[in-house]
Amino acid sequence: MLKYITRIDPKTRKEWIETHLTGKQLMQMPLLNKGTAFTEEERHELKLLGKLPHRVETLDEQVKRVKNQYRAYVSSLQKYIYLNNLHDKNEVLFYKLLYEDLAETLPLIYTPGVSNAVKEFSHEFRSPRGLYIAYPDRANMDEILDNRTHAEIDLMVVTDGERILGIGDQGIGGMDIPIAKLVVYSLCGINPYNALPIMLDVGTDNQELLNNPLYLGWRHPRIRGKEYDDFVHQFVELVKKKFPRSMLHWEDFGQQNARKILETYRSDHCTFNDDMQGTGVVTLAALLAAIQATNTPIQSQRVVVFGAGTAGVGIADQLHNAMQRQGMSSDAAFRQFWLIDKDGLLKEGMPLAFFQKPYARSKDEAWTDKTDLLAVVKAIKPTILIGCSTVRNAFNEAVVREMASHVAQPIIFPLSNPNERSEADAADLLTWSDGKALIATGSPYDPVVLNGKKYDITQCNNALSFPGIGIGAIATRAKEVTDNMLWAAANAISEKSPVRQDPTKALLPAITEIAQLAPHVALAVAKQAIADGVARNTPKLDLDEFIQENIWRPYYRPIKWVKQ
Ligand code: NAI
Repeated sequence: MLKYITRIDPKTRKEWIETHLTGKQLMQMPLLNKGTAFTEEERHELKLLGKLPHRVETLDEQVKRVKNQYRAYVSSLQKYIYLNNLHDKNEVLFYKLLYEDLAETLPLIYTPGVSNAVKEFSHEFRSPRGLYIAYPDRANMDEILDNRTHAEIDLMVVTDGERILGIGDQGIGGMDIPIAKLVVYSLCGINPYNALPIMLDVGTDNQELLNNPLYLGWRHPRIRGKEYDDFVHQFVELVKKKFPRSMLHWEDFGQQNARKILETYRSDHCTFNDDMQGTGVVTLAALLAAIQATNTPIQSQRVVVFGAGTAGVGIADQLHNAMQRQGMSSDAAFRQFWLIDKDGLLKEGMPLAFFQKPYARSKDEAWTDKTDLLAVVKAIKPTILIGCSTVRNAFNEAVVREMASHVAQPIIFPLSNPNERSEADAADLLTWSDGKALIATGSPYDPVVLNGKKYDITQCNNALSFPGIGIGAIATRAKEVTDNMLWAAANAISEKSPVRQDPTKALLPAITEIAQLAPHVALAVAKQAIADGVARNTPKLDLDEFIQENIWRPYYRPIKWVKQ
């Protein structure tokens, strides 16, 4: 398996790569290939003479060319395909291109662009990346994991494709999400040599996919119950055996499975669920900044969450935890929440999922016969309204005006993605609240001008949280991701909130700043992992320097040939 290895000079900290590969074989390895940037010395040593045009280029010169090439494509799907082909040919060049212009490239390769790619996966498939573990191949799971390209794995992003973004069950197409998440991780500093996207293909309940003759996944309804749990268990046990010091990032699982998996394995292996914890952390960071701007303590916030699924309850959990940190009891903190799902306000006696139950309101609350959103807003006068329902326009004019009539600065976060599923558009929220609402959205919105004043719209994107959490946890080889580490991450993000300097600015740093933000978040997470006693790797260096040492950046390392 080991075809190359990165070495570091302990004194100069300079890196180089050793490999026994030469010629075409070497150029076919995306993490080794430099194309026209192989130096003359490397061309001699690695049997590349004559295989490349004469001139040796710099990485920057190569970036100019590929930028022109991908910009020549018109549709975002075509651009996505071009970028992914580059990813499969030359990873350093791919990351450098993205890194240079995140504002342009991130929406193509990550959200919102990736959602089209997911839907078109079986039609646009070109070459595989990562590992596919289909349920019928479960007897060979050990062998599949050994077929990975790189020996050392620090991070796996795993999905079963059941609940992709706001677009539901996408079966095998869900694999594009772990790939995209790992691209974001590597843009922020995770070494792509040590990262692996994995698809647990347990079938799909999406009839359109099952009927599609080109569908590439296991053509079978999703397995559930014990069969599913045993399959996941088999996978986790193998991960623990093969990569005991790795982090498992669970991505886009269905509501019930997501919770169950996190709770089952959380203290067993370093495990992180982005839809619950990453979302909870980034939203809490935005809320902490907003709450400070309103000058109302967190304990006095009355919170309505519309859409009590994975993200909605994940956010409520982080906020509930934050309230307890201000001295509230757990029970008193739960009483500050009103969660609404498709059958109305969550109340005792309703059939609720186990993770929704702690938020159920008492049956005795007098006003709770009518439990639609407007009735709840009228009755409880919330200070915070969060949407994770995918119900377009649920935060309508009546709801927003009602909320704004009771609260000086209502905090309103319509977080559902993509924009077509958002509970409200930013411009409407500002208009209906006379510019008073503090807003964060799931998908990006352009700044809004109202009565001659420009408002930056905060994008509450998990890309601000998960890379820093991952880098901090992996650098310290954390045994688990503790609640304290998540709290530290939320505070670290919130510290960098532009609104803390200027009240007209956004509640969170821009998504284009993820690469600068991640080491700052990682530092806070690593510090907390050490304080919580879960770090297995406590650095001798200054912690800041240690994090910097763990940050991968796209540049060409010298390549040296070694005998196999
Ligand atoms: P989910 O499927 O677990 O939860 C959605 C919930 O909304 C379900 O419980 C569903 O029953 C409920 N719902 C459906 N119709 C409703 C109605 N008419 N009234 C009230 N509730 C209703 O999905 P998940 O993972 O929680 O994601 C929800 C949305 O949040 C998606 O659009 C997703 O893209 C977005 N999201 C945004 C994030 C961010 O901005 N950082 C992060 C994670 C998710």
